[in-house]
Amino acid sequence: MNAQPRRVEHLQTDKGSVPVYTTAVIEQPWSTYSATDHAVWTQLFRRQRELLVGRADEEFLRTQDAMGMGEDRIPKFDELNRMLRARTGWELIGVEGLLPELTFFEHLANKRFPVTWWIRTPERLDYLSEPDLFHDLFGHVPLLMNPVFADYMQAYGQGGVRAHGFGPEALAQLTRLYWYTVEFGLINTAAGLRIYGAGILSSKGESIHCLDSPAPNRIGFDLERIMRTRYRIDTYQKTYFVIDSYQQLMDATRPDFAPIYARLTNEPTLPAGEVLATDRVFSRGSGEGWSNDGDV
Ligand code: PHE
Ligand code: CO
Repeated sequence: MNAQPRRVEHLQTDKGSVPVYTTAVIEQPWSTYSATDHAVWTQLFRRQRELLVGRADEEFLRTQDAMGMGEDRIPKFDELNRMLRARTGWELIGVEGLLPELTFFEHLANKRFPVTWWIRTPERLDYLSEPDLFHDLFGHVPLLMNPVFADYMQAYGQGGVRAHGFGPEALAQLTRLYWYTVEFGLINTAAGLRIYGAGILSSKGESIHCLDSPAPNRIGFDLERIMRTRYRIDTYQKTYFVIDSYQQLMDATRPDFAPIYARLTNEPTLPAGEVLATDRVFSRGSGEGWSNDGDV
């Protein structure tokens, strides 16, 4: 029997909260979850599923059910892995907390998705400054069953490994792409705008804010625009980018990024809340759902 894995969280210092990185890959210590851990999963699962009907991409909800992720208990990585391996060749690996960037990219490039083994405590149901099991498993894992999205995640990892050779600016641009798609992306479906980004899917407040609040911008996906757009990690997003399909993500990111990195070095970055004349802005008609101003 392995030793109980560590629960690696940020450190409180006199400079504020500092992220801590860890590279260990561990076995999910499923039998050590307490009744409270399972109860936290149940509560969060129920709350989000109720909220996400009509808000999350339908495929996300359907796949979550099909994978057997349910409200009753924390899922076992082994059980999810059987389905993932068969469908897209991906597997979940247990980790203790945040990974260093290059380690994270290498896992993705090899179709391994790192999942934090521990779940938040009841005192911090609504906001954590780092990923936990609920965010990673509930938010990220269902779309790894979609072959196109799964390929995008792998290509992203490979691109990240490459980007290391191009320097910190290239890495910052690539991180913005991940942030505005995998974590905070919206998708334009026949039924209207829907959520697919895991950072939204695992957050009660942001699930509502991103679609129902008049405050944030909702802008059509544009690769280089996104790679220039800064973001905030401690508030709801000021801008969400909307894809038309997962295929669009794949197609837009297939080209060699080397010339893009080179070109963007000379362009200023953009603040999170700005709207440009060239942006395709989505807006809410009078009770009519979402429309794309660029198309009318
Ligand atoms: N095409 C990118 C490159 O040449 C890799 C990449 C794919 C990056 C998908 C992000 C997402 O580096
Ligand atoms: Co995440």
